[in-house]
This record gives sequence, C-alpha cells and structure tokens, in this order.
Amino acid sequence: MKKDELKKVKNSLSSIKDFDDLLNSLLTQTRKAIPSDAGSIYIVEEKKLTIRCAQNDTQQKDLEEGEELPFVSFSFPITKTSIAGYCVLSKEPLNIKDAYNIPKSEPYKFNVGTDVVTGYKTISSIALPLFVAGGRVLGVLQLINRLDKDGKVTTFSDDDLEIAQDLTLSISTALEMAEAAELSNAAYRGKHLQSIFEIDQKLNEIQDIDVLLERILTEARKIVNADAGSIYEVQGKNLAIKYAQNDTQSAKLQPGEKLPFLSFSFPITEKSISGYVALSGETLNIHDAYKIPEGVPYSFNPASDTATGYHTKSMLTIPLKIADSSLLGVLQIINAKNEEGEYIEFDADAELYINHFAANAANALGQAKSRRDLIDAMTEMANMRDPKETGMHVARVSKFSVEIYDRWAFNHNIDESTREKFRDFLATASKCHDFGKIGIEDKILKKPGRFDDDERAIMNSHTCLGALLFKNFNSPLFQMCQNINLRHHEWWDGSRGYPGKMDWESYEQGNPLPKAECLKGEEIPLEARIVSVADVFDALSHARVYKPAWTMEDAVNEIQKCSGTQFDPGVVEAFMQIKDRLIAISNSYGSD
Ligand SMILES: [Fe+2]
Ligand SMILES: [Fe+2]
Repeated sequence: MKKDELKKVKNSLSSIKDFDDLLNSLLTQTRKAIPSDAGSIYIVEEKKLTIRCAQNDTQQKDLEEGEELPFVSFSFPITKTSIAGYCVLSKEPLNIKDAYNIPKSEPYKFNVGTDVVTGYKTISSIALPLFVAGGRVLGVLQLINRLDKDGKVTTFSDDDLEIAQDLTLSISTALEMAEAAELSNAAYRGKHLQSIFEIDQKLNEIQDIDVLLERILTEARKIVNADAGSIYEVQGKNLAIKYAQNDTQSAKLQPGEKLPFLSFSFPITEKSISGYVALSGETLNIHDAYKIPEGVPYSFNPASDTATGYHTKSMLTIPLKIADSSLLGVLQIINAKNEEGEYIEFDADAELYINHFAANAANALGQAKSRRDLIDAMTEMANMRDPKETGMHVARVSKFSVEIYDRWAFNHNIDESTREKFRDFLATASKCHDFGKIGIEDKILKKPGRFDDDERAIMNSHTCLGALLFKNFNSPLFQMCQNINLRHHEWWDGSRGYPGKMDWESYEQGNPLPKAECLKGEEIPLEARIVSVADVFDALSHARVYKPAWTMEDAVNEIQKCSGTQFDPGVVEAFMQIKDRLIAISNSYGSD
C-alpha cells in the first residue's frame, strides 16, 4: 500500500466515533490493504477476550443479497494457549503459515472450533495486538487466509505484517477515544438505570393515583430531557387528559403560577396518536409530528400547537399498563432536547429508558388504582345513604384541596419533599371528609328542611364517627383522614365550630354531640383548615336539595368574607390567588 493511500485510510478511520463502527471499518480496510478472505477483532474486557466483529467473504457469498453473517458472540480467558491470548500477553504479532500445523514447541494452539461449526478451512493467519497510548493492549486484530492475485490462499509476508501494524498503530488514538466514549456511555446507562430504579421506589410510596400520574410525567420527562408532555387516563371508551407539562410555557409564568388547567377527553380510536398507542399497546416514536409518513392510521392534531404557539416536533408515546397488564392510560412526552436546548428525536436509548421506567411504574400504578377504586366505593357507599352528597362533590373537594395546598405551600416556602407527601395524602384523605355520615340515622340524615337543636347535635357527630373509622390505623395517610374527618367543621377564630375539645374517642353513636370548648387557629390541623374551605366553596357553588347554586362570584366572595373568622386567612389567601383555576376545575365536572 502506498503511503498516501495509507494516510487517506487513517484519516477516514480516525473520524469514526462509534467503537463498533470503527472496529468494523478497521477490519475492512486492513483486509483491503492486505487481501485476505476473513478476519476478526477481539477486545480485552476484564480478563477475557470477546469477539467484537467478524468478516468472512467465502461465507458471505453463500448468503442472499442484503443478508448478514450470523451474529457471533463468545469470549475466552486470556492465556498463552490461544493465538489471540498469546498476542495480548506477549504484545507481539504472530504470523502463522498453517493453522493446523503449528509447531508443538509453541505455547499456543489453533482452536478448530469455529472451522468445525462452519465448515470453513483456516490456513494462514496473522494476529496483531491493537495498541493504545501507554502501550496498553486494547484487543487483537486477526486476518485469515491471505489471497494471492488469483484468489488462492497463500501465506502472509513480513511486509503484510508491517503494513497491518502501521495501519493499526496509526489509529490507536481514535481507538482509545471510541473505547472511552463507549465506556462512559455504558456508565451513563448504568447510572441512568440506577436512577430509574430509585424513582421506582419513590413512586411506590405515593398513595394517590392522580399525584402518581403527575409524578410519572415529571420523572419521565426528566429521564430523557423532554420539554413537554401529557398523561392520559382511560375512562371507559375515552382517553381523558390528567396532566400536561411544558417547560417552555412554564418559564413564562410568574413564580408559584401554574399552566392553565386542562380538561378534555376523546374516544380511543386509531386516528389519534395516543388512541393508536392505547389500542396497539405499543410504544410509538415519532421523529417529527408534522412529517408523519403516509399509510399510518394516526395523525397529529395541531390544534394545541395552534392555540398555544408551541411547536411539537418529536413525540414518544407509551402505553401505561398496570400489573395485571390492563391499560391504565397513555404517557406522551414531547420534544427531546440536546445540551443546547434544541429539539431532537428520541433515540433508541430514550425509548429503552422510558419503556423500562413505564414497566416499573406498573406496580405503583396498580396499587394506587386499587386504593382509589376502594375509596370511590366507600364514597359511593356514603352517598347511597346521603342523597344530598354526590361523588362529584367529593372529587372536586379533593382537587380544590390539593390546588389550595400547592399555593399555600409555595407562599410558605415549604420544602419539596414535605410538599410532595402532604399533597399526596391530602388528595386521598380529603375525599373521606364526610365518611362519618354513614353512621347517622336516616330519620336525621334524610330529613328535608331544617334540623332542630337535638337533630343538629346528632348530625354534627359525623365528625367523631368519621374519625373513629380511622382510629385503629396509624399510617400518616389514615392519620390525615382522621384529622380531616374530625376537624373539618372547626372555626379558625374559635368562636364556633365542632366537635372541639371533647373526648371523641369515647363518643357513642346515636348520641347528640356534647358541647365542648372550641379549637382555635393552628390547633386545627392544616389539612382540615384547607378541606373546610374547599368543602364550603363547593357546597355554596352547587345546588343542594335545600338551596339553589350560588354564582361562582358569590361563592368566592363568601369565602373571602369568612377569612379570619371561619377560615384560616392564610388558606383563604391561597384560595383567592388561584380562584380562577378552581372555577375552571369546577366547570370541568359539568353540573350535578
Ligand atoms: Fe362534614
Ligand atoms: Fe362535603
């Protein structure tokens, strides 16, 4: 090979960044420079040599066009008894004239295994160590069956050996860099998977399914550095949006402010991307939402981009299954970003991480779903007894409570981990606020019109009955359920409210609630102070048997008016800051 030709090859090889690509090209180019029928490269890994690429023209000829040789994967310990092992340990090249007749005096032997399996006949071979800086041997390059001008097998000359050595040495830096990139990539992957594992554990601690879905969206976006995303839940034959996040749009908001509350659902069909994923159960990786190839049933709906001025490019859409493999919803993450913040495609790694993450979330999702189903059934049970209450009231009170708390926590600089836990428990516990009504006799519970004093005193005992339901559990969630049941009718200024400072654990069902000294201010647990506002706001703004619905404006004004008397002014302040959002949430439930 001429010098300038060699230089060209060196240059082209040195520009290859991927380790496997570089090894393959190195083998191809060396075999071109020194015509040989076959060859392979082995890489040192720990105390072993592992085959990384293999080429064989004779076997290639037997294949159909476009077909590849079977992928071989094996490794063996580095010892002097194998040709490649000898090369690594001695750091010397070997030139073997006849593989089947190696002199007995040599420590190494030819391993006939591959020839036996493939029917190939190895005759001549050279093996040379691949050096990187500092003389470290990275692996071994082996050429097999030197071909002469007529294509017949001959032996390798000393010149051949020299050319091959020159070529491999000249790219030692490129080899080292590609290897380092691969190693750091592997470490990066390892670290990534480790952090996914840690997130899984955190997810399993979350009690409330809505809080869990929101968290899954946040964590999934973090894992693959995505700008935006949404999460949908299957509701009957529809997909309903649960949460949408968008860093670009959030960056334009004031601190503590949230993106507008979204509420919509659509039928599950193949025509939408998320519907398609829900039906097929498979992940869909779309590189450009505006360039979806023809011939697929789904298409991108640009309505949201048009409305917001946002530009959706890459989309990774994943089915969210629970442990019994039934579909719970769909996770969609949008616009992967590179280090410069430019939108890029989701690569195979991103897909791997997200699928791994979604599979691991199945357990937490399944448990959270069972918990919600159970709470919903209990709510339904309470509502069957009390026709004045509805499931929607309970669901709205839960949503309002979490939103009010989020804002309250922002105003009070509550740390992230306290916030996460509190809002999670609150989402579920607030749904239980009137469970005690199940223990109130029909004569009173279902009485139309006003209560007399005795009836009122019995009715008020629902606070104690509710607390007694949770008395024997001491998990933080049930503790919160108990506090909310017991204290959601206390007044902030201590002028009124019930049950007050009484021995509620000894309360006996059916008795009027005894009069007691009132609780005041922060003696009332925060969760109860929040639910109290959420409960009254919802009761006022919706019709009850005994009263028509107030307008939202009147309901909001009433809450504001009772700040400092019935309600904690700090809670009312948070309520007022997000009142428009609360009204939007309320409207999303329709009328009941
Ligand atoms: Fe109540
Ligand atoms: Fe209520």
